[in-house]
Amino acid sequence: MSAASVSAQSNPACDPGELEMVFSHVTAAVGHPKGEAATALADRINADLNGQACMTVYPNSELYADDDELFQAMLDGEVHFAAPSLAKMSPIVPQAQLFDLPFLFDNMEELIDFTYTPEGESILEAASLNGYLGLGYWLNGMREMSATVPIRRPEDVQGLTFRLSGSPVGEVYYDMLGVETITMSFSKVYDALATGEVDGQENSWSNIYTKSFYTVQDGVTETNHGVLAYMLFTSEAFMDSLDPGLRAELEQIILEVTHERNGFAYQLADVNRNLILQDGGVIRTLNDEERQAWVDALLPVWDQFEDAIGADLIQAASGRAA
Ligand code: LMR
Repeated sequence: MSAASVSAQSNPACDPGELEMVFSHVTAAVGHPKGEAATALADRINADLNGQACMTVYPNSELYADDDELFQAMLDGEVHFAAPSLAKMSPIVPQAQLFDLPFLFDNMEELIDFTYTPEGESILEAASLNGYLGLGYWLNGMREMSATVPIRRPEDVQGLTFRLSGSPVGEVYYDMLGVETITMSFSKVYDALATGEVDGQENSWSNIYTKSFYTVQDGVTETNHGVLAYMLFTSEAFMDSLDPGLRAELEQIILEVTHERNGFAYQLADVNRNLILQDGGVIRTLNDEERQAWVDALLPVWDQFEDAIGADLIQAASGRAA
């Protein structure tokens, strides 16, 4: 579907005279933390703001194949809300590269705690420098690696080609591992894995299950080497155009839905991990020595991004001296 056809699309949630809002994303609508959060947001808006505003959600890259296309579409008023990964936000908010540093957070609890700190808030606020507004963090899960060969140690991926979602940090750490990377839209990953265009990829349990990546890989290794989270954002001009009362109601709904749905992201990660196992997928877990080998191999990338991200942010997020 093209952006041009959006306005021609009839939205059953919209009545004549209502302000029509579009939310575009690339993941599955059901069984996925972002898909379900977007639907929950639209449901709340369509119920609570009935008569004033309505929202339509386009999941599964139906509207835009690439998250990148969203940035211009949002400034053009074609899309009003989106939640790309923090990695994909980095052209707009370079500080968001923080979240791509490997082994920065040991688990999702540490990540969510950080998002409530002043430093976490400052990364959302940085989006407004470019005409956007960061509204909140939406969670997905820890990142794992999968490939056509069993992965246990850093040397197992040497010489492979991995798909990347668009992450300067990822490009550097895969280069350090001797892995070639290809930046590719999420919608193309399954076919690229199935045809052997790439050998592997990194993603969360919810993405790996809902897009069946594990079915065209030797297995998934629970590396937990990174986090996958999103920035829910909009355009500043769009928010400024709203009647102040409507804007306040909308912001309150966003806050409530964000809080409620982030609580489910952890559960969905476990559910989707189990569904992979139930379907016969292979999951490899690492022992302490194997995990340490990954930490030793990937941690040097932090220094290379200290200037781009800011040593203060790295220190605040890691609790370690940067
Ligand atoms: C990816 O491209 O792998 C992810 O950013 C997709 C998503 O939105 O979770």
